[in-house]
Amino acid sequence: MCGIVGILGHAPATPRILESLKRLEYRGYDSAGIAVHDGGELIRRRAPGKLSALEEVLSENPLSGNTGIGHTRWATHGEPTEANAHPHMTDRVAIVHNGIIENFRPLKEELLKKGASFEGETDTEVVARLLTSYLDEGLAPKDAFQKTLSRLVGAFALCVLIKGEDDLMFGAREGSPLVVGLGEGENYLGSDAMALASLSSKLIYLEEGDWAELHHDSVQVFDAAGNAVERTVTISQVAATMVDKGNHRHFMQKEIFEQPTVVAQALGRYLDPNAGKVRMPHMPFELATVPKVTLVACGTSYYAAQVARYWIEKLARVPVEVDIASEFRYREPVYADGGLAIFISQSGETADTLAALRHAKAAGQHVAAIVNVMGSTMAREADLVLPIHAGAEIGVASTKAFTCQLSVLAALAVDLAAAKGQINEEQEAAFVQELETAPKLMAQVLHNDEAIEEIARSIAPARDVLFVGRGIHFPIAMEGALKLKEISYIHAEGYAAGELKHGPIALIDENVPVIGIAPKDDLIDKTVSNLQEIMARQGKVILLSDNAEEEAEGMFARLEMPSAGELVTPILYAIPVQLLAYYAAVEKGTDVDQPRNLAKSVTVE
Ligand code: AGP
Repeated sequence: MCGIVGILGHAPATPRILESLKRLEYRGYDSAGIAVHDGGELIRRRAPGKLSALEEVLSENPLSGNTGIGHTRWATHGEPTEANAHPHMTDRVAIVHNGIIENFRPLKEELLKKGASFEGETDTEVVARLLTSYLDEGLAPKDAFQKTLSRLVGAFALCVLIKGEDDLMFGAREGSPLVVGLGEGENYLGSDAMALASLSSKLIYLEEGDWAELHHDSVQVFDAAGNAVERTVTISQVAATMVDKGNHRHFMQKEIFEQPTVVAQALGRYLDPNAGKVRMPHMPFELATVPKVTLVACGTSYYAAQVARYWIEKLARVPVEVDIASEFRYREPVYADGGLAIFISQSGETADTLAALRHAKAAGQHVAAIVNVMGSTMAREADLVLPIHAGAEIGVASTKAFTCQLSVLAALAVDLAAAKGQINEEQEAAFVQELETAPKLMAQVLHNDEAIEEIARSIAPARDVLFVGRGIHFPIAMEGALKLKEISYIHAEGYAAGELKHGPIALIDENVPVIGIAPKDDLIDKTVSNLQEIMARQGKVILLSDNAEEEAEGMFARLEMPSAGELVTPILYAIPVQLLAYYAAVEKGTDVDQPRNLAKSVTVE
């Protein structure tokens, strides 16, 4: 998603804006630009492609000036060209935007009738021209900005400079996050805490409909009606140091190998191994009375929800409904009175999941958010927040956040089962003890890294790959397919192993690798027989299992995994499928950390 930064400063703005834009690269983008107040003029530089292209332009045509705005654009309206890159300007304003203005066409028609002309095809340029038209009518900057906001429909985070007003910057938030950073005689705007980490740790998270007027020595926040409001100043937890790759080649690789550490961190916040108890934060509702659980998320987070459904229904005997966020509210779901709706999101900003959270909250559900970013919108709007403590996840492909989500969901399933009286203290202690083994076993799997890399090389040339599993490993098969798709661009599908004979087996030939995710549990025999049906049709079967030498007879490859219980195996088996995708992508030379077309946080519907 697009990244925004604005600096109303007392030192050269360009290098500081570039530094902040680099912190936003993980969000995914395909063009970038900067505009500054320079000698009474607003001057702009833009470039399609990565920030290095913009730096090239700046080295040839440098900008000076202490106040500026910057943007990394993830294309929604219009190709990733220089003309469509932000900032968008008129003779009077410069503007950067994250989101989608849904009514930009009628606004554009209105402005064209007034004689306005347009350079590009973006919705953002319409906002710049609309603001300019109100300034041309003689409105004061603040009134012109507020009137412009009142005309917009859709999702936007905006940052605006006005020519001749070099002690003024406006920001606004409706549907896309925007944060004010407070400095000493300087003030800032950014898409998130990461963007402002090198500028300020004193942050104001604007709320929906808020807009802000920034000067060097003051910040005033207004609500949608234009009333001055006080918003909480929070201290950011994001360290000012640039999150770096360490001695890893990619952020994704680093984050895969961090998993034993961060899962131990996450478990440490929710388990009391000495007492053999799960320790959940205070809940503003009685867990024992919850009649139904609804789990909603997107992408990888959705697969974590799918795994959790098996755990919760089996252990707590509470019915669970799981849905993809972009489908959820449009199907008019039937809620249970007093139900618990849980929204899982690494970023805490995914537009579809946030909209689903608001839908459930409006319906009177108890709402919980399982997030990795504590300052995120979901964290601030939920009744209960369960942080996953994975640390900043920079790679667009989610890895450590996924296993930390599973860790928190496993703890929650055990806590719910205990609250419902479905398990006794001894059983709870046994589950806690099992979960405590996860970090060590994960480290063991990571030691098998070379064997996984070799298998990955063998699947890299494939056009199609299938992942299959049963029970709690069916979602892991789907997650493995998503990982492979999104970073290596190889087409892959995840299926329930029992489903293959109902159609997908028609895809099988000697060119189709099939990854079988089959720990030695009560379902392995059925899964192995499904895999043998594939081998009978020359499919290339790769078995991930434990102590399955016999079952793997005749298969293309077998990856030995540690044995573990049903709360830990999904967490363990996430690692080989992550590494298979990673090494296949490295083999294919794709942009592992910022795969094409993707964004880290999808803040548009
Ligand atoms: C996962 O590898 C993808 N990057 C994507 O599917 C992601 O899980 C999805 O967009 C949800 O993001 P969230 O967890 O921040 O809500």
